[in-house]
Amino acid sequence: MLTRRNFTIGCGLLGSSVAVLGARLGITDPAPFNTPLPIPKLIDAAKQASAVALKVISGRHAFVKGKPTLTYGYSAPILGPVIRLHQGDAVEMTVENALDVATTVHWHGLLVPGYNDGGPQQLIHPGKTWRPVLKIDQPAATLWFHPHPHHDTARQIYMGLAGMIIVDDGSDARLGLPRTYGIDDLPIIIQDRTIDSDGSIEYENNTLNALDIAYGARGETIIVNGVIAPVAKVPPGVVRLRLLNAANAQNFELRFNDKRTFYVIASDGGFLAAPVPVKQLTISPAERFEVLVDFADGKAVALETGPDEEMGVFGRVAPDGSADYVAVMRFEPAPNTTIVKRVPKRLIAPPLVSSASAARRRQFILDSGLCASRPQVNAHADMPALIGINGKSFDIERIDVETKLGTTEVWEIVSIGMAHPFHVHGALFRIVSIEGAPPPAHLAGWKDTVLVEDKAEILVAFNQPATREHPFMYHCHILEHEDAGLMGQYVCA
Ligand code: C2O
Ligand code: CU
Repeated sequence: MLTRRNFTIGCGLLGSSVAVLGARLGITDPAPFNTPLPIPKLIDAAKQASAVALKVISGRHAFVKGKPTLTYGYSAPILGPVIRLHQGDAVEMTVENALDVATTVHWHGLLVPGYNDGGPQQLIHPGKTWRPVLKIDQPAATLWFHPHPHHDTARQIYMGLAGMIIVDDGSDARLGLPRTYGIDDLPIIIQDRTIDSDGSIEYENNTLNALDIAYGARGETIIVNGVIAPVAKVPPGVVRLRLLNAANAQNFELRFNDKRTFYVIASDGGFLAAPVPVKQLTISPAERFEVLVDFADGKAVALETGPDEEMGVFGRVAPDGSADYVAVMRFEPAPNTTIVKRVPKRLIAPPLVSSASAARRRQFILDSGLCASRPQVNAHADMPALIGINGKSFDIERIDVETKLGTTEVWEIVSIGMAHPFHVHGALFRIVSIEGAPPPAHLAGWKDTVLVEDKAEILVAFNQPATREHPFMYHCHILEHEDAGLMGQYVCA
């Protein structure tokens, strides 16, 4: 197979960067599993009069013991709180920017109007405060929040800015799901970093050479909730993991080292009709899956990730540059009162949708410019080789698409160069087809991000307004692609 280390052919433009990447491999020691999984502070909006304050700060965090380094976080040195929001509430958010650069906060997956969405138009300058009032009007789901300032999104997220949102609609108890935060309902935020010998992760160290832009900034070291190879003590029963891929570019290929079956219960936009048993789960940047894992056998088990299969001409590459699985974290069932014993049979079926009712159809060709290796490249050979959608690089002054409020559209997404995780703001969608086939069961529910290797058709439901002043974005969620222009804007009225 091709690895970053031995990759030299077919991509002459990038040849010079390969040596740089090779030198970075294998810096951090492998998994000791001796750091307890950090559980971010839970802010339940309902318990504080629906007012939530976040402060965007810089701080210091030691990825490597004894070597603290500069990081960013939301009211924390790295990452931020988990915010629980309740359907039907109006939540007063206060976001103060204490950084020395402008930022924005985008509520990824939250269905709010364009003026509250936190896209690149809504800069919060240093020392300023943003106060959106968010009306929560969607079913239970695991969402997240992160910065979105154009050209600086990738760096700011890499420095640590990401937090989780749980939308609660009261269905957990009725469904008998694990729901005790930090005990049997765990946020699992997975990222990868390049950690230098001095313990730093500064994005400048990961200088944006052509290779980083071509396939996104990737690191050899996996972190979960901000730490390397943590261990979580769990009850010996059914545990719910809210998996969020908050990496800049890496797709995680998750499985347990004993190959046990686990159950996908929710995708980006909420519950599936029934738990879907899987042994392996691909999660691309910005995607979320809620899964149930049964630890009743009392055995310790490691979650691990395998080679990224979606690297186009680069082939399969594991985060550490090898071709093997690497450990992400470990779970140790501890004697405890088991809270939930059973995986439920049924969840909440998303409504049936039909593309027959779609108001129109559009095509979006995502081209990361370099190393186009996929068959579609011939079909679209007339397109200029640049990072952009339908041959156009992002322009904040340009509205690319006009949609009608209350309608659905079929969007055909075509990936060139490598697999791109495509995300739409302000709307949820259902996958109609992916790589020419109907979606597998765990991808059949509501989504806001989909990994497209060659081609997918999605049925997008537009139910939130967005004006020319505050349009919604759609883009590749490989953050270096997004910053480089693989993004467009739509209005909805
Ligand atoms: Cu995660 Cu444009 O967003
Ligand atoms: Cu991309």
